[in-house]
Amino acid sequence: MKLWAGRFSKSTDAFADHFQSSLSFDKRLIVHDIKGSIAHAHMLAAQNIISEEDGREIEDGLSGILEDYEDGRLELDDSAEDIHMAVEALLTKRIGEAGKKLHTGRSRNDQVALDMRLYAMSEIEEIVALSKELMRALLDLSKKHTDTVMPGYTHLQRAQPVTFAHHLLAYVEMLKRDIDRLLDAKRRTSVMPLGSGALAASTYPLNRELVRELLDFDAISYNSMDAVSDRDFLIELLSAISMIMMHLSRLCEEIALWSSWEFKFIELDDAYSTGSSIMPQKKNPDMAELVRGKTGRVYGSLMALLTVMKGLPLSYNKDMQEDKESAFDAIDTVKMCLPIVAGMLSTATVIKANMRKACGAGFVNATDAADWLAKKGVPFRDAHEITGKLVLYCSQNGKALEDLSLEEFRQASPVFDESVYEAISLEACVSSRKVPGGPSKAYIEKLIDWNEAYLGNGN
Ligand code: ARG
Repeated sequence: MKLWAGRFSKSTDAFADHFQSSLSFDKRLIVHDIKGSIAHAHMLAAQNIISEEDGREIEDGLSGILEDYEDGRLELDDSAEDIHMAVEALLTKRIGEAGKKLHTGRSRNDQVALDMRLYAMSEIEEIVALSKELMRALLDLSKKHTDTVMPGYTHLQRAQPVTFAHHLLAYVEMLKRDIDRLLDAKRRTSVMPLGSGALAASTYPLNRELVRELLDFDAISYNSMDAVSDRDFLIELLSAISMIMMHLSRLCEEIALWSSWEFKFIELDDAYSTGSSIMPQKKNPDMAELVRGKTGRVYGSLMALLTVMKGLPLSYNKDMQEDKESAFDAIDTVKMCLPIVAGMLSTATVIKANMRKACGAGFVNATDAADWLAKKGVPFRDAHEITGKLVLYCSQNGKALEDLSLEEFRQASPVFDESVYEAISLEACVSSRKVPGGPSKAYIEKLIDWNEAYLGNGN
């Protein structure tokens, strides 16, 4: 029998029942649901709303359910409508009358809001930890490649030389912002909604501060109608996760490019590659592509949730039950993708020689030639023009800038002298970019130290 069956004279249509049930997916909230209920029961007893004895029986009963769940021997009644009903029904089955008092001064509306907040907060912790593990993989790889010169690109055209470390550390910056966003979202998630009841709070003398304290929330909600109908915290979380996925997707796009024969900057480990069922030579970056693909799916969850919420009148509406599968799927997905990307990167072989070779073509040192002229007093615009002509001359004659004779340089401008060769060497192009934020080894080493400190391994 349904726990709300009192005002009904007829049972729900079986298919309608199946349609509206959330147990199949919200059962994963069981631990949060029980912890929330234990805190609620504790408070009810402390406030003399239920007897001390009933309070104790409820708490013991719930702890027993939790233990059974943790030992893998809990059997929930599949016909229950949702996890909240399933736990309450089981409690009453186990402890009798006292179980029926658990829901005093509470509604599933504030209960589900509580459960989702508890769930979101603990998932945020996990996603932050996994993001840090990816940062660690990026950082470890960077340390080995502070001297590994490669072309930096704009428009996917070779632009200026950087180092592989510099390129990888760009992703570390993104991840730091991602973590910051997650923690910021957590701050707004840490608001305790219990006591809001169905929508209009409660006539019982509930001690909301006590429940807040027991469940370790930062604050209690200030408006009961908002508290039961707010899913902003999930949308924020999904948006932060979408941003992580966008970053992972860009990195995976690069990994796929770098491992192609056209680039061959890296070779993925066999453990992170797949073959083709028809082409024997193939080694495909499927993991990278899947992460890129799953990004679309996570964006979909964010859009789904935004769309579910957009037309809902206050306060709770059952539409909001649709928050769960989207949130669960997005969270599960990012938690799979972060370690896959970390594993893929830390096992890849970096082919430094190809990165360097790629700098040989594409005139990545042209800016440095122009800068050299400008430092000798030629206005930068003229220096740009002169170097542009040299590049044209080189491409017509199949040469790189460093292949030109001093005479050829001087034909373009008499200002050129021997020292231009040193200035346009790849090493100089990188090491002379000493500006903070740039690729020079001196700066990159400092940045690596800062990032180590961020990860808690500072020296
Ligand atoms: N399963 C529901 C959900 O996820 C729980 C709240 C149900 N409340 C109600 N009044 N029907 O939203």
